[in-house]
Amino acid sequence: MSTERCLLLTDPLNFPENPTFYGLLHHLLRQIAHGSPQENDFSLAFATPQEAIEQIEDISVILDRTLCYTPQVKALHRKCAERNIPYVNHPTLMALLANKKATHDALSLSGIKQPFTQSIGSKDDLIKFMSRLGISRRFVIKPTWGGMGDWVTFVEMTHGGYIRARWKEDSLKIKEFCGFPSDFCQQVLFIQIGETNGGSRSAEGPVSWIAQEYLDLTGIDGLARDIRVIQQRDRFGVMKTSLIHGRQSDSAALPLTNLSKGGQLCSVEQILDGTGITIDQLLSLCSQVNHVFETATGHNIGEIGHDIAVTRSADKFHLIYLEGNTMPGYVLESWDLLVSADTEAQQPVLTTQDRTLLVRPFEYANRIRKNY
Ligand SMILES: Nc1ncnc2c1ncn2[C@@H]1O[C@H](COP(=O)(O)OP(=O)(O)OP(=O)(O)O)[C@@H](O)[C@H]1O
Ligand SMILES: [Mg+2]
Repeated sequence: MSTERCLLLTDPLNFPENPTFYGLLHHLLRQIAHGSPQENDFSLAFATPQEAIEQIEDISVILDRTLCYTPQVKALHRKCAERNIPYVNHPTLMALLANKKATHDALSLSGIKQPFTQSIGSKDDLIKFMSRLGISRRFVIKPTWGGMGDWVTFVEMTHGGYIRARWKEDSLKIKEFCGFPSDFCQQVLFIQIGETNGGSRSAEGPVSWIAQEYLDLTGIDGLARDIRVIQQRDRFGVMKTSLIHGRQSDSAALPLTNLSKGGQLCSVEQILDGTGITIDQLLSLCSQVNHVFETATGHNIGEIGHDIAVTRSADKFHLIYLEGNTMPGYVLESWDLLVSADTEAQQPVLTTQDRTLLVRPFEYANRIRKNY
């Protein structure tokens, strides 16, 4: 029996820094691959997108966990399309979800509640957006691609027609601008646009930005909170909810909930408590969104992370869809145990939830390898 290779793509930046985690993953997945006779014909390898391009002849399916939609990843997508190599998630789905404006438009057509959003390519666009939103309203500016909270800029008008803008780049430090709107455009926004265009995460061609209505997600403690739902198809191709958790900002000064920007985990119950919103309603929104993305692209989602906000208006609470991620970051319950374990000698100690979360995408990759 020939051995086919399932390739786990890893971010070249993350891989060397995190060998224990990937070592454990590898160990775990080898056990799974040897667990049942029908699945013995597939072995698992780790590679960067560049290495995957070089080894394309030997690959039977790719599970992409790079977390970044780089030009190399796109080049690999083209190679896989030429050779009809199965890919989780399908590159067409990744392309749609890598563009916050395109996903916003697709979901709007289906009546899914989202923040009011417009593309921003010039000073005029920004002024038009502000006058449509209401000049005194707060808003958010961010690149159309996801950058784990990088460049997400919170803007508000202060007395005297001044603008105040706050954001975090790669570091956890808050940056602030206070001044006239025209100076904001010149000194901050278009510099950010220029830098993100030149940055390593940019797509080919210029990166566009969006402006979005600000949703007040802050509780009485001043911290912002939102909900992440991770859904994955299982070995039978059935979509399952693998994880639901809340995220909260690290301070009241910047309502950014990304864990990579200092955000912390919190319970979903805490967010939904007293809102009258149930987990079933949350999951029903996720199903509707999945349906829109799958219909728009013609491909099944293998794995997705949904970011959902709970807002209040006129004494009623609403679920507002923030964004979907085709390569969601996982939060492992057993992380501390994992990183301290000896990968070769010891059986990794994983909670059932973590094991399921890690294994499902591989089982699904194995499924589509056989039925592509
Ligand atoms: N319109 C908004 N109103 C209030 N808070 C927002 C809004 N948009 C974004 N945020 C906050 O900023 C965070 C990051 O925004 P978003 O998820 O859109 O970009 P990203 O995290 O950089 O993208 P990705 O998750 O794809 O890497 C959100 O999780 C939320 O905390
Ligand atoms: Mg996000």
